[in-house]
Amino acid sequence: MPTPSMEDYIEQIYMLIEDKGYARVSDIAEALAVHPSSVTKMVQKLDKDQYLIYEKYRGLVLTSKGKKIGKRLVYRHELLEQFLRVIGVDEENIYEDVEGIEHHLSWNAIDRIGDLVQYFEEEKDRVEALQTIQKQNEDNQ
Ligand code: CO
Repeated sequence: MPTPSMEDYIEQIYMLIEDKGYARVSDIAEALAVHPSSVTKMVQKLDKDQYLIYEKYRGLVLTSKGKKIGKRLVYRHELLEQFLRVIGVDEENIYEDVEGIEHHLSWNAIDRIGDLVQYFEEEKDRVEALQTIQKQNEDNQ
C-alpha cells in the first residue's frame, strides 16, 4: 500500500487527469501546495513503484495499478465528505477534516461508514432524528 503522502499525490493526479486529461508537475504542485521539486521527486518514486509512467517532456500517465488505487482514493475522499455532511458537520470544516482523517482509517472502517451513509440516505427520518438530538445537545450547552 502507498504511504499517506503517496496517497495524496495519487489522489490529486487521478483527479487532474479526470478533469483536464493530463497532470502537469506545476498543477500537482499547486493543488498540494508544495514545491515542484518535491513533486518531481515523488513522481519518480511513484514511477519506480509502478503507479505511473513519467517521461520528462511528455508528462505522466497512470498505470492500471495507479488508476485503480486513484479511483479508490477519490471514492474514499468523497464518501468521507458525504459522511461528515450527513452527520451535520459545518461545510467550512469538511474539506480539511477529510484531508486530516482519510489516510488513517482502514478500508474496513471506510466500508462501514459507507453503510452508515446509506442508512441515513435511505430514510430521511433518520437524518431528522439525528438533527433533533443535535438540537437538544446544543440547547443543553
Ligand atoms: Co483527499
